[in-house]
Amino acid sequence: MVDKDKEAFLNKIVSGLTDLLPLPTTVMAIIKISKNPNSNLQDLVKLLDKDQAMVTRILRLANSSHYGFSKEIKTINHAVVCLGFKTIQNMALTVSVSPMFQQSLDSYLLEKEGLFKHSNAVAVGSRIIAQQQKYVDPDESYVMGLLHDVGKLILDQCAKEQFVDVINLVKKGNISFIEAEEQILGFNHGEIGAKVAEKWNLSSELVETIRFHHNPEQASENNKSVHMVHIANYLVEMMGIGIGYDGLNYDFNEKSLELIGLRNEDMEPLMVSIMNEL
Ligand SMILES: [Fe+2]
Ligand SMILES: [Fe+2]
Repeated sequence: MVDKDKEAFLNKIVSGLTDLLPLPTTVMAIIKISKNPNSNLQDLVKLLDKDQAMVTRILRLANSSHYGFSKEIKTINHAVVCLGFKTIQNMALTVSVSPMFQQSLDSYLLEKEGLFKHSNAVAVGSRIIAQQQKYVDPDESYVMGLLHDVGKLILDQCAKEQFVDVINLVKKGNISFIEAEEQILGFNHGEIGAKVAEKWNLSSELVETIRFHHNPEQASENNKSVHMVHIANYLVEMMGIGIGYDGLNYDFNEKSLELIGLRNEDMEPLMVSIMNEL
């Protein structure tokens, strides 16, 4: 495609994003009230009370071993008080987005549940790094990892024909999958994923993390989360969890380790921790 066509193609995809990948209205409403400085925890409880299916899924998550509460959390009111606004928002996002990742993605050679297994492993890896390095909230890190490849869902639907060329290009030569996407489509799945996150009104840190997870050097200086997800993604690729075509010729930025405060010898124990948690 020539540059003009590439730009038109991108605009066409972006204009249809809300229909392609809608976020449940309850989650959109949670994000909206979380951005309103005048809202409080009771507003959140009232909102969730109207969506009992969501409440059931959030309570199941709140009672999982990860949170380690000694007594069962039985009501959404109790969950909101114990866990706070941000964690409930991250839980609502997690339970809504996870089912979207179960489908197979032919363009990326990912079988059914492949993207979910990969994304969940990157999410767990990001959370472990965040817990160790203590600079970003671990629950937030989990969501960043979970969403990093959301753009693949869109490109698998909209660019099936073009992916034949992307894959041929990767197979042919010394080029990473992300570079092949850029060469053929004019953009990569991180950029499209960031557009999805913008439509969903997610935080700018999350948007940037999704956008640059393959090019962390392009992120703003104060966003270490981009490097964290880049490393977690690399570890999970090395572990071979849910990798498809884009695991070929993976570009790893060694500087990310230093920026996060990790060394090469930390990689193996991190992989063991991810495996244990999965
Ligand atoms: Fe990716
Ligand atoms: Fe990935």
